[in-house]
Amino acid sequence: MTNALRLGIAGLGNVGVGVLDIVKKHGALLADRAGVPIKVTAVAARNKAKDRGHDLAGIKWHDDPVALAKSLDIDVFVELMGGEGDPAKSAVEAAIAAGKHVITANKALLAHHGTALARAAEAKGIALNFEASVAGGIPIIKALREGLIGNRVSKLFGIMNGTCNYILTKMANEGRNFTDVLKEAQNLGYAEADPTFDIGGFDTAHKLAIVASLAFGTEVNLNAIEIEGIEAITLDDIRNASDMGYKIKLLGVAIAHVEGIEQRVNPTLVPKGAPVSDTDGVFNAIVVKGDFVGDLMLEGRGAGAHPTASAVLSDVVDIARGNRRPAFGIPAAKLKPYKQSPKKAHEGGYYVALELIDRPGAVASIAQILAHEKISIESIVQRGRQGQETKRATATFILITHDTLETSIRTAIQQIEKNGHVASKPRVIRIERL
Ligand code: HSE
Repeated sequence: MTNALRLGIAGLGNVGVGVLDIVKKHGALLADRAGVPIKVTAVAARNKAKDRGHDLAGIKWHDDPVALAKSLDIDVFVELMGGEGDPAKSAVEAAIAAGKHVITANKALLAHHGTALARAAEAKGIALNFEASVAGGIPIIKALREGLIGNRVSKLFGIMNGTCNYILTKMANEGRNFTDVLKEAQNLGYAEADPTFDIGGFDTAHKLAIVASLAFGTEVNLNAIEIEGIEAITLDDIRNASDMGYKIKLLGVAIAHVEGIEQRVNPTLVPKGAPVSDTDGVFNAIVVKGDFVGDLMLEGRGAGAHPTASAVLSDVVDIARGNRRPAFGIPAAKLKPYKQSPKKAHEGGYYVALELIDRPGAVASIAQILAHEKISIESIVQRGRQGQETKRATATFILITHDTLETSIRTAIQQIEKNGHVASKPRVIRIERL
């Protein structure tokens, strides 16, 4: 066997250590598959003294990831620090400038600077690989870049954040509260350093921006994405949705309309039994609609040290084998400028939860507002009466609407909030026809 492929890993958190675990356990297997031994020759991290369960004695230590990126001891710079800015950005740029291949799991960096980094990598003739940046261990980047290359993709959607899916699943199955389950997800190493990126929907948006670019051949555009997280979802919403035959999932959705591209991230009611509805816990699932392949769904662990490290290793072996592909599937110069679609009628209706003051005319006034906005109700249930002993007894009504314009539902909710019959802020969640 010839010279080793030398990796320099910046960031020895969960995923970095996961990469060390796989290289150690599967050294011989990887060497056979790659055609050369895979060796970690240098690392950069914040805390040299920390016990990571690996003997780093023979590995060169750098305090500065930019120094590692330029180092003569490595062929491939593996960026596992995260964050859209420095030090990750300057280290990746330094590695490209020094002619090193780059592997990164950094979705924030790619969502903000993906097109520019792809251009820079192509100009240098080096690989910019990022399988681990989206949906952990699921090979969605390779699927879009290679396996589905013969298709025009019209729509792509899925669950792309393990932390949110873990939280929503545990709330639904165990009746536990949001904060408690979030802590558990953090302890399991699923959550971002700042978990508001997960629960606020931003992490899903970063990933969506990347896969939308690959799917549609457009420049990466994070700013075009409408983002709503899961912070406002209550146990009651989850139970109500379940009683009506739905689960609540945080979905990223990208659609290529004739007029332009639509991208959004929002909590969504999905009918039980529909694709992705049974994807629970830390699992992610992405559905791709291609014109020749039809619909296909990839499912697997979307977060965690080893699934994510597994994706990093696929990029490593690609580089060792000499596979070089444009980062976003077509040369960066050919990526089309992003064209945003005008707002469309939402297909699939809405879940609306209203706490109404229990008095004559309350429901009638709501019905009138909905009728005025031409919103048709598919089903309505009353969830009981609270506070009978007080003057302001309330009853919760859950409405499921037929398909309607998003502007109509927003206008109706504004009117409902003003008309004096609601005791708390209405909650509105999209229903997605999948
Ligand atoms: N925080 C991310 C998640 C990690 O929960 O999915 C994987 O990108």
